[in-house]
Amino acid sequence: MKTRFSMALLACAPMIAQAPALGTPAIEARIDALLKQMTLEEKVGQLNQVSPGIPFGPKGERIDDAAMVASGQVGSMLNLRDGAHAAKFQKLAVEKSRLHIPLLFGLDVVHGYRATFPIPLGLSATWNPELIEQTSRVAAQEASAQGVRWTFSPMVDIARDARWGRIAESAGEDPYLGSLIAKAFVRGYQGERLSDPTSILACAKHFVGYGASEAGRDYNSTEISERTLRQVYLPPFQAAVNQGAGTLMSSFNAINGVPASSNAFTLDQILRKEWGFQGLVVSDYASVRETMAHGIANDDATAARKSFLAGLDMDMGSNVFLPELPALLKSGAVPPARLDEAVRRVLRLKFALGLFENPYPGPAPTEGPLTPQVRALARRAAEESFVLLRNEPVKGSPLLPLKAAAGQKIALIGPHADDALEMLGSWAIRGRAEDVVTLRAALAERTTREKMSLLTAKGTEILGGDESGFAKALRVAREADVVVMALGEKAEYTGEATSRAHLDLPGNQQQLLEAVAATGKPIVLVLFNGRPLTVTWAGQHVPAILEAWSPGNEAGPALVATLFGDVNPSGRLTVSFPRSVGQEPLYYNALSTGRPVSPDMDLSQPPRGFEASRWVSRYIDEVNAPLFPFGHGLSYTSFQYSPVSVSSPTLSAAALNDRQGSLRVSADLTNTGTRSGTSVAQLYIRLRGTSVARPVRELKGFQRVALAPGETRKVEFEVGKEALAFWNMEMKCLAEPSALSLWIAPDSASGKAAEVDITP
Ligand code: NOJ
Repeated sequence: MKTRFSMALLACAPMIAQAPALGTPAIEARIDALLKQMTLEEKVGQLNQVSPGIPFGPKGERIDDAAMVASGQVGSMLNLRDGAHAAKFQKLAVEKSRLHIPLLFGLDVVHGYRATFPIPLGLSATWNPELIEQTSRVAAQEASAQGVRWTFSPMVDIARDARWGRIAESAGEDPYLGSLIAKAFVRGYQGERLSDPTSILACAKHFVGYGASEAGRDYNSTEISERTLRQVYLPPFQAAVNQGAGTLMSSFNAINGVPASSNAFTLDQILRKEWGFQGLVVSDYASVRETMAHGIANDDATAARKSFLAGLDMDMGSNVFLPELPALLKSGAVPPARLDEAVRRVLRLKFALGLFENPYPGPAPTEGPLTPQVRALARRAAEESFVLLRNEPVKGSPLLPLKAAAGQKIALIGPHADDALEMLGSWAIRGRAEDVVTLRAALAERTTREKMSLLTAKGTEILGGDESGFAKALRVAREADVVVMALGEKAEYTGEATSRAHLDLPGNQQQLLEAVAATGKPIVLVLFNGRPLTVTWAGQHVPAILEAWSPGNEAGPALVATLFGDVNPSGRLTVSFPRSVGQEPLYYNALSTGRPVSPDMDLSQPPRGFEASRWVSRYIDEVNAPLFPFGHGLSYTSFQYSPVSVSSPTLSAAALNDRQGSLRVSADLTNTGTRSGTSVAQLYIRLRGTSVARPVRELKGFQRVALAPGETRKVEFEVGKEALAFWNMEMKCLAEPSALSLWIAPDSASGKAAEVDITP
């Protein structure tokens, strides 16, 4: 089932089934035999997922989860504490239930189980799918050892709005990069084959369009045209499905008025009929019941019927499938074939995982410290996730990297400097503060070793307005040669249900930053956050800004290695950083308007009178450009990109559509600085003259290129139908005659394009 890493992804889904088979003929035969023995109630039980210890049902009645498991009323459980807890319920299922069908245990293993890697947004900034595959593999090994054979990850929602807290769990705003990352997670979790006891099922979530929640407010409704759905929001899901992902989770949002958990267009037409997905779709927590709040059902039975008939297979936490489906089947409102289909999908995965043969995890692993190998991986992931946003000269040379000179005094200020829990991030499911090395701890070690002095002050809390710590912070700043400030968001306020209407540094951290800057000491600002922040003031006044996200276990060592230049930053933004909240949603791959801003227009002042810059698509009080664009990230060395060469000035659309035409696009990339470094060469395209408007730029390829000082390397991309086809006026995925611009550039806002004519 495993397909190797490939950069070629179709820009739009083909109308043919591509999903790999999840079962085998032998498995299907075993399912047939089992289905024949199952009662209606036992079948419905397989579609019911519950959390242990949730003591009351929706009507206030006491739920005895153990009794339910023993009587075959539960197919899956989520949120078990550990392997022993899971084994207790598994024993009931396997030994007490009539047909001995094992339970499937699920958990949100999102950026690690105990070993905690950077949050997904940070992982995405590595632009390194192989690395993400490795971190997911470790997560799978640790989770499966505790009985978890199903993770509710990867979250593959395209996230274009920094107000939406769940952007932290995403791979950012780009469907191409998001698709490659989705595949990497699936490969890591599911391994070579599902029957390997260390493999866990992936769950691509949240299907679909959740990231388009209006105004960036979590759970809010979405309006998404079919074209945008297919072009932007669906590709990472299809990539996950084609990689063999066993499950998908339906999202909380409504799409164009129809809740995603009861949406037959997405769940049945697209997922099953077009993509041929054989796995299982679980609802998000209580989202079947929530179809009533959405307003498309007035009672439990209708909520259950609509979701189930739309194609949803398993009810997570709504507790409506179990009580309502039997009567719906008996009355004929739900056909028996639909029930068997859903049960088959659940059983297929249980057989494929080998749960019937090996329902229990192996012996509990010994509770030692994290292994050196796992720590090394966590460190590498953190280092590659850091994005150097800004690095201006101080006394003639860029402030970073810091020079390790004996006698130098470094002040470390800020609430994130020594808070282990904060480093773990939003979904640190079994991560432990004791496994974290903080920035303060690592910097203390380094400064002692190199005979420097470290002065520390917390300064303030992440939230709140208490300024009593400012005085000490200013004192240590004045005493120091250089100040490192560790500021940002509370991890707890990133992720689910953490939408923000303001995107600045929370609490009084901005005031602290400005007060320290007023001392005149050079500042390195290290940001810990789960979303783009409007650090616009810092972007003008603070010489160095390093984006660190929530870096995980190895936060401190990775940061210290980066700050002192042992590691050269290579992360690149996968989300645009706005200057003002009012710019949101902000994403680089937007459509042009009929009145675009021309590059020579100065938008920094409101337009006066009738000047040309008035009648364009702009703000009167903010420029249009982001503070830091998608793809941005600096290095301690410098790179030069040559003009782009193309193998031919023309290309035929007909040949492309026959998969016979393609173009080679290349550029020479030179390290023009004095240090080794890695640049992420990014291939962007734009199509003009097409039947429907295409974005001003779209990412279609990238390569991480490591270069020694002075070294030049040619980067080359093959551009064919995969990159050039799109959902056209007739909603067909085709290339069209058009003018094609191609950039190979270090980010989404720079470079000069080569032009190619796509002829009929
Ligand atoms: C709700 C979240 O939206 C989803 O991402 C998560 O997997 C489930 N709860 C289960 O915890």
